[in-house]
Amino acid sequence: MDKPKVVLGVSGGIAAYKACELLRRLTESGHDVRVVPTGSALHFVGAATWSALSGHPVRTEVWSDVHEVPHVRIGQEADLVVVAPATADLLARAAHGLADDLLTNTLLTARCPVVFAPAMHTEMWEHPATRENVATLRRRGAVVIEPAVGRLTGVDTGKGRLPDPAEIFETCRRVLARGVAAPDLAGRHVVVSAGGTREPLDPVRFLGNRSSGKQGYALARTAAARGARVTLIAANTGLPDPAGVDVVRVGTAVQLREAVLKAVPEADAVVMAAAVADFRPAAYAAGKIKKKDGQEPEPIVLVRNPDILAEISADRAREGQVVVGFAAETDDVLANGRAKLQRKGCDLLVVNEVGERRTFGSEENEAVVLGADGSETPVPHGPKEALAETVWDLVASRLA
Ligand code: PMT
Repeated sequence: MDKPKVVLGVSGGIAAYKACELLRRLTESGHDVRVVPTGSALHFVGAATWSALSGHPVRTEVWSDVHEVPHVRIGQEADLVVVAPATADLLARAAHGLADDLLTNTLLTARCPVVFAPAMHTEMWEHPATRENVATLRRRGAVVIEPAVGRLTGVDTGKGRLPDPAEIFETCRRVLARGVAAPDLAGRHVVVSAGGTREPLDPVRFLGNRSSGKQGYALARTAAARGARVTLIAANTGLPDPAGVDVVRVGTAVQLREAVLKAVPEADAVVMAAAVADFRPAAYAAGKIKKKDGQEPEPIVLVRNPDILAEISADRAREGQVVVGFAAETDDVLANGRAKLQRKGCDLLVVNEVGERRTFGSEENEAVVLGADGSETPVPHGPKEALAETVWDLVASRLA
C-alpha cells in the first residue's frame, strides 16, 4: 500500500524547531512527508534539515522545478496538510486565500483535511483579526488546534505556545483516519471529565479509585480532531495535555462539580467519563491520623458527594445540550446500566465493565452505549479511541 502523503507546512516562528520532531514522528510511523516551509521559516530551521529528515527536496516558492507544477501538484496529491507552527501571518494569508508562496498555493489546491497548529504571542492570538481568521478557517472545515498556555519566546508566558509535537501528531493521526469527513464538531464546545477523584482523609491519605484518565483523554483528543473546542476537566491524571484542549485540573468530587458547573453553560455537550467518588470522609484530620497502641482504629464515617451527572442532566444549562454519562459496573452490567440511565437522566450512558485489571488503566475498552430513546449501540473490544469516536458519532447526530 502507498504511504499516506502528508504535507508539513512550516511558517516563520521560533517554534519551527519543534516541527522537526513532528516530522520525525510522521516519517517513522510510515507517512511520506513533504516539508513546505515559508521563506521566513528558513530563518529558524534551514532547508538542509527539512530535506534530510523528510528525504525530499525542499522549496519555499513556486519558481523552482516549474515543469513539475509543484504549486498545484503538492496540494492535490496530499492526504493531509498540517501547518505547524502556523503564525498569525500564515493564518491571515490562508483565511484570505492568498497564494504568494508555495505553502499558500498548496493550501489552496489541497482537497484533503487541513490542520493548523498556531503558535504566536498571546496578544497576536487574541487580536480580533486573528480570531476572525481562525473562525473563517474553522468554518471552512480546517482543524485549528488551540495553542497551549505556557512559556513563550522570551520570559513571558500565556496562551500561544505550540502544543507538544507528540500531541499534534496524535491529532494528525486521528484526522487522517477520518479522511475527508468534515470535522463534524467544528464550532461546538464540549466538556469532558476524566480521571478519578481523591477524597482526602488527612494530609497523607485519600479514598480514590483506579481510573487513569485514558478513556476521558481519548474522548478529548478525538473531539479536538473533529473540530470541537474542548474543555477537559482532569482529576488526578498523569497524562500529557492533549493538543488544543483546555485542561482544568481538579482533585475532589466537590472541585470536579465546581469545574463542571462553571464550564457547562457554554457547552453543547458534556461527557462525564471521570470516576467520581460517591462518598467522602465526613471529617478531614488536619494532621496525619496516628495508630494508637492497643486500640482499634476509629471507623471512617462517610457522607454522600453530590451527583454531578444527575444534577446537570436535570438542570440543562442550554437547550439542546447533550449529556453523556459512563457507568462502571462489575456485575449485571447491562441491567445496572439501564437502571442507572433512568436514575441519572442523561441522554446517553456508556456502560462498561470494570475490575481490578479490567478497563481501568488499559488501552482498550468495550461497551454498550444506551440511549434515553431506547437505542443500544454495542462497541466491540478495541482501542479507547474507537469507543470515543462512537460516542461523538452519537453526540453529533443528536446535536445535528
Ligand atoms: O480512566 P480509565 O483508566 O481509562 O478508565 C475508564 C473508566 C472505567 C473510568 C470510564 O470508562 C468510566 O466508566 N467512567 C465512569 C466511572 C464512574 O464513576 O462510574 P459510575 O457508574 O460510578 O458513575 C456513573 C456516572 O455518574 C459517571 O458518568 C460519573 O462520572 C457520574 N458521577 C458519579 C458519581 C457522582 N457523585 N457524580 C457523578 O457525576
